Amino acid sequence: MKPSVISKAAIERLGVKSELIPKHIAIIMDGNGRWAKARGKKRTDGHRAGMERIHDIVKASQDIGVEHLTLYAFSCENWKRPKLEVQALFSLLVEYFHKEIDELNRNGVCIRIIGQNDNIPDNILRVLRHAEDLTKDNPNLTLNIAFNYGSRQEMVHAVRNMANEVAMGAIGVDEIDEAMISSHLYTAGQPDPDLLIRTSGEQRLSNYLLYQLAYAEFVFLDEHWPDFTVDVYYKAIRQYAQRSRRFGGLG
Ligand code: IPE
Ligand code: IPE
Ligand code: MG
Repeated sequence: MKPSVISKAAIERLGVKSELIPKHIAIIMDGNGRWAKARGKKRTDGHRAGMERIHDIVKASQDIGVEHLTLYAFSCENWKRPKLEVQALFSLLVEYFHKEIDELNRNGVCIRIIGQNDNIPDNILRVLRHAEDLTKDNPNLTLNIAFNYGSRQEMVHAVRNMANEVAMGAIGVDEIDEAMISSHLYTAGQPDPDLLIRTSGEQRLSNYLLYQLAYAEFVFLDEHWPDFTVDVYYKAIRQYAQRSRRFGGLG
């Protein structure tokens, strides 16, 4: 990450020493539906309000030198929702990229879509591929969008690929270790998240990054995602900075 994109003023406002700022933050953007219900609005209005928060959070991440940000946009299990809600979620993601792609690219953000292509309409896949291709060499923040993502499905995909490589003689069984498994996940080449944030009060992972989150710190917030301002984000990072990460040692 180029130091030039980091804002001293933002780090001062955050009030956390640079070395204690997480390098990789993963977020479960939850509570759009409850936010809408509390206001007598439609669930899709909540999803729109949620989508509109992403701009500021991406920018705030860059300002403080976060290098990887992973956002849960649509889970493999979200197919259980009504068809119209699923369609609205897809349309909002396309709208997000139409609105934001130029600025993201100018800011050197590298977009990666993590998840499965199955059942995703071609017109949506084209928009996602375009965003990835356009930004693939960008040096600053990596923005992973977990879309049609499920961690167990990701592990199945990884295990099948490794099994194929063994069958073809490309790798030996003894070469399979933690690093090799990581390198077969959708997040290959990226460090594991340091911090997981889930909004809206639920305290579960909902099939998100099960392997990658092995040693992440978890921060659960009561705010619904459409109320997730930069101040709320900073509050979560300050909580993280107070934790003592021991990784099984004595700290
Ligand atoms: C998160 O908000 C968005 C997605 C899961 C796509 P929800 O839609 O889950 O909102 P709640 O949990 O019903 O309030
Ligand atoms: C997780 O939220 C998925 C996303 C935020 C995209 P859900 O609202 O779908 O999870 P559950 O159903 O509460 O576990
Ligand atoms: Mg939810």
